Amino acid sequence: MKALIPAAGHGTRFLPVTRVVPKEMLPVGSKPAIHLIVEEALAAGADEVVIVISSEKEIIRRYFDGDPTLAARIRWAFQTEQKGLGHAVLQGAPLLANETEPVLVLLGDALVSGEPPSAAMAAISRTHGGASVVGLEEVPLEKVSRYGIVRGELIEERVLKLDDLVEKPAPEAAPSRLAIAGRYLLDPAIFTLLATQTPGHGGEIQLTDAIRRLLADKPVYGYRYPGRRHDIGNPAGYLETLKAFA
Ligand code: G1P
Repeated sequence: MKALIPAAGHGTRFLPVTRVVPKEMLPVGSKPAIHLIVEEALAAGADEVVIVISSEKEIIRRYFDGDPTLAARIRWAFQTEQKGLGHAVLQGAPLLANETEPVLVLLGDALVSGEPPSAAMAAISRTHGGASVVGLEEVPLEKVSRYGIVRGELIEERVLKLDDLVEKPAPEAAPSRLAIAGRYLLDPAIFTLLATQTPGHGGEIQLTDAIRRLLADKPVYGYRYPGRRHDIGNPAGYLETLKAFA
């Protein structure tokens, strides 16, 4: 299995420190957050991790280059324009073009405390013939407009078969309170779909919109993972992360 970590965003919710320290490099104990995410990917069975950065975030590459064992398993892609999460993921496509297995996507600013979801998602995918799986968490109705929200039918404990996904809906339009939560295992057809994806919410190329199109052709499952997601992209979320990982 290959993994991809988009980590090219500007980190505007965590200025001014992110002028020089990318949010993914903020320490959680003695390791930067993104190191823990790479470890989650490797523990789930990834043998190679593609990290998408921007030219201002070379420090992430320097960090991993300092550890030859890890560096041997990491490849680098660049996003030169900020056109959204879907666009960031698309920048990894040339390095993953020959993939036939689903690719694990882990958002670089999302840490999960408790049981990390990636390994369980890989197992669910295998049970369902290599299908795509999206990690989910329930959020309060007043927060649905911050997330991609899914609709689906519960088919076994914690697992749903999805039939719709909407990026950042208004509460009255949200199909549920189940939010896409930082982890995806995606059929490689997603790269072809992203290449033709038109801008969606906020004028950005949305990964959620491409998964919605994928759903028209191939099954997509949701996994309500038991761990807790932490957003390290803002000061309050970062403090919560430190408490959870203490
Ligand atoms: C992104 C995705 C969204 C998802 C969220 C949390 O949004 O577009 O679907 O729910 O991450 O994983 P962002 O936080 O980048 O606005």
